[in-house]
This record gives sequence, C-alpha cells and structure tokens, in this order.
Amino acid sequence: MPRLSRWFIRASLVYLALGFTFGALMLFNKGIPISVWLWRLLPAHIEFLLLGWTVQLAMGVAFWILPRFGSSRGNEKAAWAAFVLLNAGVWLTGTGQLFGAPSWVPLVGRAAKVGAAVAFAIHAWPRVKPLSA
Ligand code: HEM
Repeated sequence: MPRLSRWFIRASLVYLALGFTFGALMLFNKGIPISVWLWRLLPAHIEFLLLGWTVQLAMGVAFWILPRFGSSRGNEKAAWAAFVLLNAGVWLTGTGQLFGAPSWVPLVGRAAKVGAAVAFAIHAWPRVKPLSA
C-alpha cells in the first residue's frame, strides 16, 4: 500500500475513534446530563465522521487502487494537497466553535475542504480509465 494511502487510512481511523467518542459522550449527556458544554462537540462529531472518517477512507483507498500508468500514480502532489487541505478543513470547521474561534475560521475550513475535493479530482480524474489504457 502506498505511503499516502497509509496516511489517509490511519487518519480516517483516528477520526472514527474520536467521532464515535464524541457521539457517545453527547448521547450519554442526553440521558444523564453532565454538562451543556458537551453539545459543543456536535460540529466536531459531524466533521470527523462525515469527512474525516468516510471521505478520507474513500480517498485513501482510491489513491491505492485506481488504475495506474505503469508504475506511476500520476499527479501525486495533487493527492497530497488533498490530504493536507481535507485535514485542515476538518479541524478548522469542526473545532472552530469548540475553541470559540472567530466565525471566519470555519469559513476558511470550508474553503479548504472545497480545495481538497478539487485537488483530489485533479489527481483521480485521469486515473479513471480502462485497465489496459
Ligand atoms: C459514521 C457514523 C456517524 C455519522 C456520519 C454521524 C453524523 C451525525 C450528524 C450529521 C448529526 C447531526 C444530526 C442533526 O443535527 O440533525 C449527528 C448527531 C448526533 N450523533 Fe452522530 N453520527 C455517527 C455516529 C454516531 C455514534 C456512533 C453516536 C453515539 C455513540 C452518535 C451520536 C450522536 C448524537 C448524540 C447526536 C446529537 C443528536 C441530537 O441532536 O439529539 N453518532 N451525528
């Protein structure tokens, strides 16, 4: 498995653990209230599971298994950029509220996530081809 896929997939597993933990804390808090502060974990729960876990896992596996050009995986820099931008976006959007950051922080996070999608599309588009081509 290529190095970038290992980064993507390991990071996605960390987000899975964190996202489920945050969800479990909020669920517990609904039944037995501990602190209203725990509701501030909701954006992180959503970001970590929807993007950090699922999208990141898909990107990691796609980078690994999409058809190659001989031994080359094409534009790897774009895929690395997607990894960095996606993770920056997940943290800025998911934890901005948690730490009371100004409202432009989640906005920058969303822009980073769009950038990640674009960068990954630039990487993956030419690799969506018949195996023999
Ligand atoms: C891949 C798995 C999961 C995803 C994508 C996910 C996603 C979400 C989303 C989008 C919301 C916001 C829903 C809304 O505002 O209407 C939410 C809320 C919530 N999630 Fe999850 N979740 C996942 C797993 C879990 C797990 C495993 C737990 C508990 C152990 C959990 C506990 C909660 C709780 C307590 C809320 C707040 C519900 C409320 O507003 O009363 N989630 N989740």
